[in-house]
Amino acid sequence: LVLVLCLSAAEDFDWSANNHDSFYYGTFPNGFSWGAGGSAYQTEGAWDKDGKGLSIWDVFTHKKGKTFLNDTGDSSCDGYYKIKDDILLMKELNLNHYRFSISWPRIMPTGIKSDHVNEKGLKYYDVLIDELLENRITPIVTLYHWDLPQVLQEKYGGWQNISMINYFNDFANLCFERYGDRVKYWITFNNPWSVAVEGYETGEHAPGLKLRGTGAYRAAHHIIKAHAKVWHTYDSQWRSKQKGMVGISLYGDWGEPVDITNQKDIEAAERYVQFYIGWFATPIFHGDYPHVMKDFIGRKSTQQGLGTSRLPSFSSQEKSYIKGTCDFLGVGHFTTRYVTQKSFPSNRGNTYFSDRDIAELVDPRWPDPGSEWLYSVPWGFRRMLNFIKTQYGNPMIFITENGVSEKIMCTELCDVWRIQYYKDYINEMLKAIRDGVNVKGYTAWSLLDKFEWDEGYSERFGLFYVDFKNKNKPRYPKASVQFYKRIINSNGFPN
Ligand code: NOJ
Repeated sequence: LVLVLCLSAAEDFDWSANNHDSFYYGTFPNGFSWGAGGSAYQTEGAWDKDGKGLSIWDVFTHKKGKTFLNDTGDSSCDGYYKIKDDILLMKELNLNHYRFSISWPRIMPTGIKSDHVNEKGLKYYDVLIDELLENRITPIVTLYHWDLPQVLQEKYGGWQNISMINYFNDFANLCFERYGDRVKYWITFNNPWSVAVEGYETGEHAPGLKLRGTGAYRAAHHIIKAHAKVWHTYDSQWRSKQKGMVGISLYGDWGEPVDITNQKDIEAAERYVQFYIGWFATPIFHGDYPHVMKDFIGRKSTQQGLGTSRLPSFSSQEKSYIKGTCDFLGVGHFTTRYVTQKSFPSNRGNTYFSDRDIAELVDPRWPDPGSEWLYSVPWGFRRMLNFIKTQYGNPMIFITENGVSEKIMCTELCDVWRIQYYKDYINEMLKAIRDGVNVKGYTAWSLLDKFEWDEGYSERFGLFYVDFKNKNKPRYPKASVQFYKRIINSNGFPN
């Protein structure tokens, strides 16, 4: 019976539901947490200061041709020196929480605890956490937002290597020990999909490897196990004293069938979502990879003459160890695609993307955001949240990232486009809560304009504009600051 229930879970999502109601006036549940976020490499700068070690992003961005205009995060927003200034901005917004990440090489320069622990790095996060709490802003802390210590990449091949699990666990354990008296919300990994696919398959992100067809799956496999291990470490050693929660932040854009009456399109859309958020969420909530991933990658591997699937498998012990290792689910979501079935021959395939047998489309009527990938499709957000609810047993959710980059046509501080995006997406989240989805908080992405990975400084996500050309990196509020503040102060959209 249990098996049947698990297998049927995917059927519970109603693909044909009409999620296109008009704007809903109403407020969020009491205690709903409003926040904004950023991450270490994207905002801190101070890449080589006070004993910090190199991360794979320091090395990657210092190579020519890897980022837009060869931009680096060397100084970025100089957040390392601006704790007080930035907390004033958070106060201006009336935020309940702030999401940031800890740079692993800032506190363990080689990534290995027994080599060296950098007290100055540890102090920086002490000060940040204390200042936040003094201002009654709850810290939500991510342990891994992509800046793996370079030594671990060079010596072991980074997430290709199983030894990362123990190194990461040591790092997490030190963070719990040092900050867990004050930090109650921990996120192990941010967006492991990107780490795996863009870091080890397409090579667009650090460490820039193109291990086609296998690299992403292997990286993800180790990341899932590392997540589970860290959750167990917290659960067995810290939870009773510290009373916090450990989750993971998964990135998932929505895939909508091109033709909702066509079963093939529905299956293609489901694959889109399962190869995205399902890849990580299904093991964490149900103990194993999604059936469609196992089927498709297994079949393609056989056609390619391989003896085993390119998708690694979990032993039954591992399955039960991984299952249920999530106190809350962080969700990062930005946009939607229409999806249809498209077969890729397995001899040409051999990559993550062709393993899915789908084609992605955008609707030309969707407003042009001035970003290559980010179209505003608010209803996709509600669909995504309902999918999570049905597939993973209605977990507690924090939206850990949602926002939009600058519309090119806009004058820089007049971000009318962003105001519309936030209004529509936050309203769809409210509808999802009315549908019964258990969303407890929302994190606008991001507080500041910042380094946007391979896009360098060409994509600005901030509520606050940062003048990167000025060495003092001054911040200026965009129009969306007042808008978001109004939503926060009225806890939604009262009639
Ligand atoms: C997801 C990443 O986690 C974040 O760092 C990035 O800024 C956003 N996507 C926007 O691309």
